[in-house]
Amino acid sequence: MYDIAQLDVPPLRRAAGTVRLPGSKSISNRVLLLAGLAEGRTEIHDLLDSDDTRVMLQALRQLGCGIAGDDRVTTVTGIGGSLRQVRTPLSLSLGNAGTAMRPLAAALALLVTRDGGDVELSGVARMHERPIGDLVDALRRIGALIDYLHHDGYPPLRLRAGGTLNIERPIRVRGDVSSQFLSALLLALPLVSDGGGQPITIEVDGELISKPYVELTLALLQRFGIEVQHDGLQRFVIPAGSRYRAPSRIHVEGDASSASYFIAAGAIAAVEAPLRIEGVGLDSIQGDIRFVDAARAMGAQVAGGASWLEVRRGAWPLKAATLDCNHMPDAAMTLAAMALYADGRTRLTRIGSWRVKETDRIAAMAVELRKLGATVLDGADSIEVEPPASPAAWRRAALHTYDDHRMAMCLSLAAFNPLAGARVPVRLLDPRCVGKTFPEYFETLFGVVGADAADIPVITVDGPTASGKGTLAAAVAARLGWRQLDSGVLYRATALAAMRANIAGDDTEALARVAAALALRFDGDQVWLDGVDVGAALRHEAVGAFASQVSALPEVRRALHALQLSFRRVPGLVADGRDMGTVVFPDAALKVFLTASAAMRAERRHKQLMAKGISARLDALRADLEARDARDMHRAVSPLKPARDALLLDNSSLTIEQSADRVLGWWGERNTFD
Ligand code: DC
Repeated sequence: MYDIAQLDVPPLRRAAGTVRLPGSKSISNRVLLLAGLAEGRTEIHDLLDSDDTRVMLQALRQLGCGIAGDDRVTTVTGIGGSLRQVRTPLSLSLGNAGTAMRPLAAALALLVTRDGGDVELSGVARMHERPIGDLVDALRRIGALIDYLHHDGYPPLRLRAGGTLNIERPIRVRGDVSSQFLSALLLALPLVSDGGGQPITIEVDGELISKPYVELTLALLQRFGIEVQHDGLQRFVIPAGSRYRAPSRIHVEGDASSASYFIAAGAIAAVEAPLRIEGVGLDSIQGDIRFVDAARAMGAQVAGGASWLEVRRGAWPLKAATLDCNHMPDAAMTLAAMALYADGRTRLTRIGSWRVKETDRIAAMAVELRKLGATVLDGADSIEVEPPASPAAWRRAALHTYDDHRMAMCLSLAAFNPLAGARVPVRLLDPRCVGKTFPEYFETLFGVVGADAADIPVITVDGPTASGKGTLAAAVAARLGWRQLDSGVLYRATALAAMRANIAGDDTEALARVAAALALRFDGDQVWLDGVDVGAALRHEAVGAFASQVSALPEVRRALHALQLSFRRVPGLVADGRDMGTVVFPDAALKVFLTASAAMRAERRHKQLMAKGISARLDALRADLEARDARDMHRAVSPLKPARDALLLDNSSLTIEQSADRVLGWWGERNTFD
């Protein structure tokens, strides 16, 4: 997860490879609720792990459900349709998860009315702006006592005991604001269907939007043993005596809405090879799978099976289209981003529900696409998008994401602008919001896209031994969300591998062969050489000393050159060493040269060693550092010296944070956005 304040996505030119999607949010939260209400245990496979499902799981725990499991399997032991064992008052905090708030409000309102209790439901500020009045009205009409704690029509809510359930008459609910109100009633009413001895009927007022979500609800109810009859999705009948039966095992499909970003990426940028998406396929029960048809209408070539899709670019530029998006409001946002690459004006209609989602998505999309240079017309329940008029009309824009995961994911697609002739990076503010449904979205995207090396920004940090460049580079990389190359590790690994193979320091050919064949793997802070964790071994003084010797050999340096260049990957690289700015990345956008005094560096190294319980003499350490400096500075190839365009940073009296602030400040000055 990119836990940073802003993420700059460099100009992207290609997409190819395979992505595996996280589980569907809509299925995950419905299955969790049903499993939580049912009697017995449900084993859920491939449940989505994200903000919205965490909120639901926490609520279920508070309701007394048993939750256990690991990465792939979650086991829920349900409360058997009764609140009696739960002590109230209970206060549930549901973040910004509509898929938790609406069905829990309905289910708990019914249970509190029947069994007694007192439950408060709240969320984050935006949740308190998302309407729930139509659902509350329907629940009040059947006898639930519900108070609005802030504003009428919006959470937070208090559900009180004392009402009398009246479910004999058909229950009416509006269907034209959010289909989640109807879904909530459908999920909850079976709880009380065994009392009256007669079926429960629900009737929808107004035209039902987002119908596929209701079909999804019905399909999942069926998996839990509840057969709802309906008549064209207008009138629903829950048979008397319905009971949730835990299916012993249920599998969550990959998220079809999340698939839309990769379908779009494939349609835009999978030219030579397809982009394959695993986890969801053409038989999906999720309505957003129909995004495939819309993408095809705009030119995508999509093939697929039961649980996979393969996408390639078909028409280019994409074909502008007029599309009715009522049945797939979430995935439809992705079409607005695809419209940036179309041959004219794309019109998305019947998307009024965008206005009551995580943010007012019509307004937000219009503002941000305009910043990129597009012409946008935002209507009450439609949006029209025309791409930037020419390559030069694309702007380097800093885009807001409105704490809305889909805004962030859609807007990332603007980074393919080189395919429309432009070449601008895209800055996404607060990219963390993707955690709502797809915490690893950017990692997944960056795993399948390609950019020209020249477009991938590099910051170099060179300096003498023990100057703190590795620590500084790591801090800068973390704050930018970039990769880091500690090039010293490559020389140390060469030295270590050579020492283990008993290769002498003057056997140039053998040393170069070792360097060229290094089987190194990086995993976070860990370094693996030939399948063995060598993090600690690489830091030994003897290895450092031998590294200093082998790094003076031009053959070794040449052998490591391509490996170093291969670290330049999207979204960016911070590289530290001796010759990063002078030799390896001469075109780096920012070059920093660290200059702490030898006395200061010796003191730091001394402290480090003492902390590890290794005794050392300060004067010996200093002498050793100076000898190493001399060797690094006076060697014939790639001597340690500042690049001509490097900025000097004396960090003798700066903390790591202060040094990182300085570097990021310089980077910010050179890397401005509109
Ligand atoms: O930064 P370090 O102490 O981990 O580096 C180990 C050795 O590798 C050091 O003696 C210098 C050499 N080195 C180099 O020559 N060029 C680099 N880019 C990085 C390190």
